[in-house]
Amino acid sequence: MDIKQALLCGFFVLSSLFLQSFPVSAQDNCLISACHGNLTAKAVVHSPVEEGECASCHQSTGAKHPGGKAGFRLVGHVKDLCTQCHDDIVASPKLHGPVKAGRCNYCHNPHSSDSANLLTAKDNTVCFRCHGGIERIIASAKSQHQPVAEGNCWDCHNPHGSEFKPLLRSFYPRPFYVSFAEENFGLCFTCHDAGAFVYERTSEATNFRNGDYNLHVLHVNRPKKGRVCKSCHGVHGADQDKLILSAIPGFGSWEIPIQFDPGTAGATCYVGCHKPKTYDRLRPTDILREQKTVHSDR
Ligand code: HEC
Ligand code: HEC
Ligand code: HEC
Ligand code: HEC
Ligand code: HEC
Ligand code: HEC
Ligand code: HEC
Repeated sequence: MDIKQALLCGFFVLSSLFLQSFPVSAQDNCLISACHGNLTAKAVVHSPVEEGECASCHQSTGAKHPGGKAGFRLVGHVKDLCTQCHDDIVASPKLHGPVKAGRCNYCHNPHSSDSANLLTAKDNTVCFRCHGGIERIIASAKSQHQPVAEGNCWDCHNPHGSEFKPLLRSFYPRPFYVSFAEENFGLCFTCHDAGAFVYERTSEATNFRNGDYNLHVLHVNRPKKGRVCKSCHGVHGADQDKLILSAIPGFGSWEIPIQFDPGTAGATCYVGCHKPKTYDRLRPTDILREQKTVHSDR
């Protein structure tokens, strides 16, 4: 900035302070290109910044501006700044760590951003800064779950807080066995048809079937000890087709291995919990008879 620009900017800022009590949007002057024009140069501009309402977050310290040190300070802690206008964001009884800590600016730029929702990084990467473990699962996964791969963790998680653990938009069971009820899988059924877990005989609701005998129903829809989705699927990604995990927690530190070999109209599963099984949608195998004995609680 040359001297002329600095003087000009100084003039605007001083006059804007002076004009604050008048019904003019004097704060617009902070945004002239020579001073803070860069704050509105990005694709998504925060409404109060666009309106020139700098004073909703910044106040003068009385020190010389520009040029002097610390001419402005924030009117409060970041969280209090933001909740002046967005108190709904912190309404959940169970807040996400960084939100609880009041660090809205970890994820949001208060002025403007190239990403929707004023995010400080594009899509999922805003989450990966703190959740590298999930990033590694996704990077190494052979099969990808579409909403995860598309970069929107918040299709399923509320980034601010949720009554449903862990920060989920709807209920999803924590244990490995539950008695079946549609609302137990509310999260999955917001996008997937619950019919795949309800019709015992079907030629279309699911591909996990032997002939028309529905194997999703067999495993999941049980009065007690129904398996939950994570007994087989990795929701963030998995190293076998169809999001099938290669191991799931067993007893103590023992992991139950799963090997899933897809064929043309079905697959063979080698698992720790029963003998290898092959299902075939076109030419049903004889697994049905054995299933009755293996899954005797039905
Ligand atoms: C919604 C609240 C809010 C509004 C409105 C706002 N700011 Fe800020 N501003 C902040 C916060 C918070 C920081 C501190 C950013 C940080 O340290 O991460 C900041 C930092 C700054 C900085 C320091 C450098 C930088 O870019 O981070 C400047 C300059 C600035 N704001 C100018 C302005 C101007 C000019 C306006 C009005 C056009 C304005 N701000 C409106 C919240 C706001
Ligand atoms: C961990 C990252 C993260 C933190 C921390 C965070 N947010 Fe967000 N916020 C997001 C994401 C991601 C979205 C987009 C969510 C969506 O599209 O459903 C969002 C959306 C929003 C929105 C617009 C949509 C809506 O729900 O109204 C507002 C307003 C908002 N956040 C305010 C805040 C405030 C205020 C804080 C601090 C109290 C905060 N955020 C802290 C990640 C975060
Ligand atoms: C003076 C009131 C005010 C303050 C203070 C304020 N906001 Fe906003 N914010 C708005 C308005 C108005 C909108 C646009 C309407 C809406 O979406 O609610 C908005 C929108 C947003 C959005 C959605 C942007 C988009 O277009 O995708 C986010 C994210 C957001 N604010 C975050 C914050 C954060 C973080 C802070 C604190 C640094 C903050 N806001 C402080 C008024 C405010
Ligand atoms: C600044 C660091 C930070 C960022 C960025 C961040 N998180 Fe978190 N996250 C945490 C901390 C710390 C916890 C643990 C405290 C808690 O349970 O809230 C956590 C917990 C979680 C949990 C609950 C884990 C559990 O086992 O209960 C989920 C889910 C989660 N984050 C998702 C996200 C998503 C989605 C994003 C991106 C929108 C994100 N996080 C961005 C720090 C972060
Ligand atoms: C399709 C829905 C969905 C999407 C999209 C999704 N998650 Fe999750 N996430 C879940 C479910 C369900 C759980 C609970 C897992 C369980 O109980 O095994 C979970 C658990 C978590 C946890 C807790 C720790 C763990 O590993 O179980 C974190 C952290 C997390 N997710 C972060 C993320 C991040 C970051 C993204 C984006 C890259 C993301 N999630 C996208 C559904 C989703
Ligand atoms: C936000 C929407 C959404 C949510 C929520 C969601 N999914 Fe998905 N899922 C998709 C989409 C889109 C696809 C790809 C198209 C399809 O197969 O329906 C998919 C595909 C799948 C697949 C097949 C993967 C493949 O390789 O063919 C499985 C398994 C799956 N989801 C399991 C789950 C489970 C378990 C949950 C709940 C924890 C869940 N999904 C929640 C959107 C979602
Ligand atoms: C016993 C293991 C197992 C359990 C438990 C399980 N699935 Fe699956 N699922 C599979 C297999 C195997 C396939 C692949 C079928 C094929 O394409 O041959 C599959 C396929 C899918 C698909 C792709 C579409 C389809 O039906 O063919 C979705 C979506 C899906 N499962 C969602 C879920 C959800 C949601 C849950 C929990 C409510 C769940 N699964 C529980 C084994 C399981």
